[in-house]
Amino acid sequence: MATSLLVVGGGRMGGALVTGLVTRGGWAAHDVTVAEPDERRRADLSSAHPGLLVVGTVADAPVDAGCGAVLAVKPDVAEPACRALGAIGVRRVLSVVAGMPAGRLEACLPDGAVVVRAMPNIPALVGAGVTAIAGGAHARAADLEWAEGVLGAVGAVVRVPERHLDVVTGLSGSGPAYVFLVAEALIEAGVLAGLSRELSTSLVVGTVRGAGELLAESGERPEVLRADVTSPGGTTAAGLRALEARGVRSAFIEAVLAAVERSRSLAR
Ligand SMILES: NC(=O)c1ccc[n+]([C@@H]2O[C@H](COP(=O)([O-])OP(=O)(O)OC[C@H]3O[C@@H](n4cnc5c(N)ncnc54)[C@H](OP(=O)(O)O)[C@@H]3O)[C@@H](O)[C@H]2O)c1
Repeated sequence: MATSLLVVGGGRMGGALVTGLVTRGGWAAHDVTVAEPDERRRADLSSAHPGLLVVGTVADAPVDAGCGAVLAVKPDVAEPACRALGAIGVRRVLSVVAGMPAGRLEACLPDGAVVVRAMPNIPALVGAGVTAIAGGAHARAADLEWAEGVLGAVGAVVRVPERHLDVVTGLSGSGPAYVFLVAEALIEAGVLAGLSRELSTSLVVGTVRGAGELLAESGERPEVLRADVTSPGGTTAAGLRALEARGVRSAFIEAVLAAVERSRSLAR
C-alpha cells in the first residue's frame, strides 16, 4: 500500500515528528513511512509505533504521486536525499533542514516540485514545539496548509518569509538548548547552596515549566511578570542585579546572533 507521508531521516527531529504525528496528530502509523539508514534507529521506531513502515533508503519507500515527504536529515545529505526523492516521484517536500535554502532543494528536484521550509524545535517531542514555515518558489496556499497539517501535530506553526528563517533557527530552533543551559546552571546553584541534586532538579524543572506556562497563558509581557515578583529591596531584586552585573541579557543576545550567523553560513 502506498504511503501518505515519507519521513526521510528518523533521528531526533524526524523521530519526534513521527511520534507526534502518530501519538497525538491523528495520523495512522500505516500512513507514514520512515527512511532511516541506521538499523538500531529503525528497530526503535518500529517497536515504538506498531504498523509504521520503516525502510533503509528512500528508494525502498512505497510512494504514489500524491505522497509528500518530510526531509529531516543533516544539511550535508539534504541535496542527495532530495535527488533520491525526485527519482521516486515525490513532488512535495517539507524540509526541516537548518540553513538550507528552498532554492537549493528545488534545484535537486524535478521542475515545479514544491518545497516548504520549516524550522521546528525539539519540544515537538512532547507536542509543545513551535515551528516557522516558509514556502519556496512553487509553494501555493494548499502546500502551506499541508505543511501546517503535518507540523501542527507537534505544536504551534507560524508562517514567515523565508528570509526570516535564519533568525528563527537561532531563536526558537536553538532556543530550547539555551533554556536547558539555564536550568543546568540553576540546578548547580541549588546544589552549591546546599540542596540535594534531586531536590534542586525538581524545583528547577517545576520553575521552568511554571514560568513558561504562566508566560504563555497569562498573555502578559515577560517584563511585567518579572516586575510583579520583584519587591523593592527584596531577594529577587538582589538576584536580578547579580545577573545584570554579569551581562546575562547581552549574553543571550550575543548567543542568538551567533546562532543566526551560523545558520546563514550553513547556507553559503
Ligand atoms: N534536533 C533539533 O532540535 C532540530 C531543530 C530544528 C531543525 N533540525 C534539523 O533537523 C535535521 C535533522 O536533525 P536531527 O537533530 O534530527 O539529526 P539526527 O538525529 O542526526 O537525524 C538525522 C537522521 O537522518 C539519517 N540519514 C542520514 N542520511 C540519510 C538518508 N540519505 N536517508 C535517510 N536518512 C538519512 C541519519 O542516519 P545516520 O545517523 O546513520 O547518518 C539520522 O538518523 C537537521 O537538518 C537539523 O538542522 C533539528
